[in-house]
Amino acid sequence: MRGDTFDMVIFGGAGDLATRKLIPALYYLNKDGQIQGSSRILCTGRSAMDQAAMRDHAAGACRQYVRDSDLDDAALRAFLERLDYVKLSADDAGDFAQLADQLNRQDPDRCRVFFLATAPKLFATICEGLAGAGLNTPQARVVLEKPLGSDLQSATEINQRVGAVFSEDQVFRIDHYLGKETVQNLMALRFGNALFEPLWRRTNINDVQITLAEQVGLEGRAGYYEHTGAMRDMIQNHLLQLLCIVAMEPPTATEANAVRDEKLKVLRALKPLSGQAAIRDTVRGQYRAGAINGQAVPGYLDEDGVEPDSRTETFAVIKAHIDTWRWAGVPFFLRTGKRLAERRAEIVINFRPVPLNIFGADLGDLPANRLVIRLQPDEGVSLNVLAKQPGPAMRLKPVSLRLDFARTFKVRPLDAYERLLTEVIRGNLTLFMRNDELEAAWRWVDPILAAWKDDGDRPRGYNAGSWGPSSAVSLLAREGFAWHEEV
Ligand code: BG6
Repeated sequence: MRGDTFDMVIFGGAGDLATRKLIPALYYLNKDGQIQGSSRILCTGRSAMDQAAMRDHAAGACRQYVRDSDLDDAALRAFLERLDYVKLSADDAGDFAQLADQLNRQDPDRCRVFFLATAPKLFATICEGLAGAGLNTPQARVVLEKPLGSDLQSATEINQRVGAVFSEDQVFRIDHYLGKETVQNLMALRFGNALFEPLWRRTNINDVQITLAEQVGLEGRAGYYEHTGAMRDMIQNHLLQLLCIVAMEPPTATEANAVRDEKLKVLRALKPLSGQAAIRDTVRGQYRAGAINGQAVPGYLDEDGVEPDSRTETFAVIKAHIDTWRWAGVPFFLRTGKRLAERRAEIVINFRPVPLNIFGADLGDLPANRLVIRLQPDEGVSLNVLAKQPGPAMRLKPVSLRLDFARTFKVRPLDAYERLLTEVIRGNLTLFMRNDELEAAWRWVDPILAAWKDDGDRPRGYNAGSWGPSSAVSLLAREGFAWHEEV
C-alpha cells in the first residue's frame, strides 16, 4: 500500500464491525506507515454526527480494541486527522451526490474503497447509489462483508445487482478467516514443503476435523444472530473456506483466480446433503445456562432480544464428504458453536494408523499421527508422532513436534482486517471470495437448512461451558471417530 493515496468510505462507519475491527485495524496501518499522503477515511451512517463526534467515537474504539502497548497519543492524533463523517441514507440519491462532491473535491482519480459494513440487504442499494452518483469509476473497489445473503437466491440477487454496476475484479467479498496468519501458513505448509503432499489424500488420512469454538455468546447481536444462526454465521463462510484450503489441489500460483478456481472445485465436489441424510449427518445445538471460566452465563433463550421459542442454532456439526479421487470416503467433520468450553480454532488432520504393530500386542493399537494447525489462540502447528520412552523397555509414547509462531517469529502478527484492508488497497483478490464460490457454498448449505427447517425437532440443548450436545460426540463415535479433545 506504500505510495498509494486513497479514500476509504466505510458505510456503517460507527457500527459494530467498524468500531471493533475496521477502525482499530486502520489505526495500526496508519501507525505502521501504511496509509500514505492525504489518504482519507470517511465514515457514513444515518445518524447525524459531525466530524468531532466521529473522531471521539474512533478514539474510543482504539482505546478499547487496540492493545495498550500499541496505543500512543501522537499516533492516535495522526490517525484521527484522516477521519471524517458524512451522513448518508442508502436510499437517498441526494446523499450520494453530496458524497461524490466531497470525494471529487480532492483528486478525483485516486483509488477509492467503499467498505460496506452494513446489513447485506443494503449491499445492492448502496452499490446502485454509488453508480448513480458516478462513483463506480475503474479505480473504485467495493468491499462486502459476510454473510452475503441468507440463501442462494438472495446471494445471487446481490451478486447480480452489484455485478451490474461494478466488475467482478472490483468486488472484494470478505471472509476474515482468510486474512488470519495461520490460514496463510496452511498454504505455506501445504505448498512450500514437499513432505505433506504425497500423504495428503484418502490413502493416508483417516478424517479431518475443523473446529471454530467460541466462548462468547451473543455479544448484544441478537437482532442479527436470531436470523442467522451458526450455519449462516460461521459454516457457510469461515468453515467452508478453511475446508477449501485444506482440500484443494495445488494451485499453479498464488494469483487470485488460480487459487479461487481450485477452491471452487472443492465446493462443487461437496457431496450434497438433504432430507433425512442431512438430519443423520448433522447436529444442531442451542446453549442453556451454564458457566464460562467459572462465571454463570444465561441460556440462549434468556438472552436479550431472543424469541422465547427460538430455534436458532448456536452450535452445529456437519459430517461432510468431498467426492473426488483425493478425498472420497474421508469424513470432514465441521464444528462450530458459541458458549463452548474453550475459544479454540483448529484444523486437525488424523492420519491412518500403521498397518501392523511390531512392538508387541501388549502395547495395543498404536496411536496414529496427527497434524494440528492451531489458528487461535496460540497460533502454531504440531505434529504428533510416537517416540521411544528412554529406558530399558521398548515403550512408545506420543510426543509432539511443535512450531509456535509467536516464539519463533517474535513479531506482532497482523490482525485479519489489517491484512485484508491492505490487500484491498493493493487490489489483490486472492484472499477474497469470488461470486461463483459464494454461490457454490450456498448451493450446498441451502438443502441442509431446508432439512433442519422441515425437521420437527428443536436444536439439542447443551450447557454453556461444555463441548456441545452429546449427539455431537455420538455422530463421530458411531463410525469409530472421536473429537480431538477426547483422545
Ligand atoms: C464473525 C461472526 O464472522 O466471526 C461472529 O459473525 C464470530 O459471530 C466471529 O464471533 C469469530 O471471529 P474470530 O476472528 O473472533 O474467531
